[in-house]
Amino acid sequence: MTREMLIAHITDLHYPVYTAFEMKDLLSKRITGGLNLLFSSRRRFRTHYLGHLLMNLRRIDVDHVMVTGDLVNLGYADEFDAVRQALDAAGYTPEQVSCVPGNHDVYLPSALEHRHFWEELGGYAVVDGPSKYPFVRDLGGMLLIGLSSAVPSGFGLAYGRLGEAQLARLEQILADTAGTPRMLMLHHPPLVGNDSFDDGLLDGAGLRHLLWKYGVDLVLHGHEHHDLTGTVPGPSGAQIPVLGTGCAILDHPGHGDHARARLIRLTDGRLDHSWVISYNRKTGHWHPV
Ligand SMILES: [Fe+2]
Ligand SMILES: [Fe+2]
Repeated sequence: MTREMLIAHITDLHYPVYTAFEMKDLLSKRITGGLNLLFSSRRRFRTHYLGHLLMNLRRIDVDHVMVTGDLVNLGYADEFDAVRQALDAAGYTPEQVSCVPGNHDVYLPSALEHRHFWEELGGYAVVDGPSKYPFVRDLGGMLLIGLSSAVPSGFGLAYGRLGEAQLARLEQILADTAGTPRMLMLHHPPLVGNDSFDDGLLDGAGLRHLLWKYGVDLVLHGHEHHDLTGTVPGPSGAQIPVLGTGCAILDHPGHGDHARARLIRLTDGRLDHSWVISYNRKTGHWHPV
């Protein structure tokens, strides 16, 4: 019997909580992120869009929501708490949502040290700490593998890294689950050309090697703030689809970017098709792009 599944991909919420800023952060990387947030007149993350989007996703009855990082802007506990409250208020449970962290979720070493992402998101983070990746969830005939590429970086930097230990555990998982449909989610795109030292996935080549050797059926990522469709080589000449989606609650009319989500139809664990929906301020609805 054919099994169909509808997945929602949302990413890079950069959910801001303006009151979270602390004076002690004036000399940290948070000052540049905070000023950017306050004084960018055309680029606005609209917090009230999140509940609206989540309610719409519930209304169309998606089977699972995947959130690929940068849930918040400056890595404060209050920001994660607000995102968790929005998920709860929309009626979601941790069984229906999987989140992996992005570079903004560990904006400073202290955000990683205090484990704000894991403490405040609770079950939506799937695992309880930064060293617990990859996680594997069975979505009913399809495995979801979550990776963390989130590492703190310096001023002006936004790179990601998986690390040798995580890649080694991933290799074991891929070897053990051969033949089962599976998809991968992570924040930084694993595409060729996205390995740069300033904002790329530093060990993307290591991940691509595993994908080429073992294969998966789909990769979802964030970080780029644009809708992207690409591929990476898989086993026996196959091409693995790699999908990225623009920011979930961003209004950036000058660039034609509006809040968006990607819907993905899977048939028997394989990508059938995907489409992006975007918020239209005139109609107050989410429309296919
Ligand atoms: Fe981002
Ligand atoms: Fe990012």
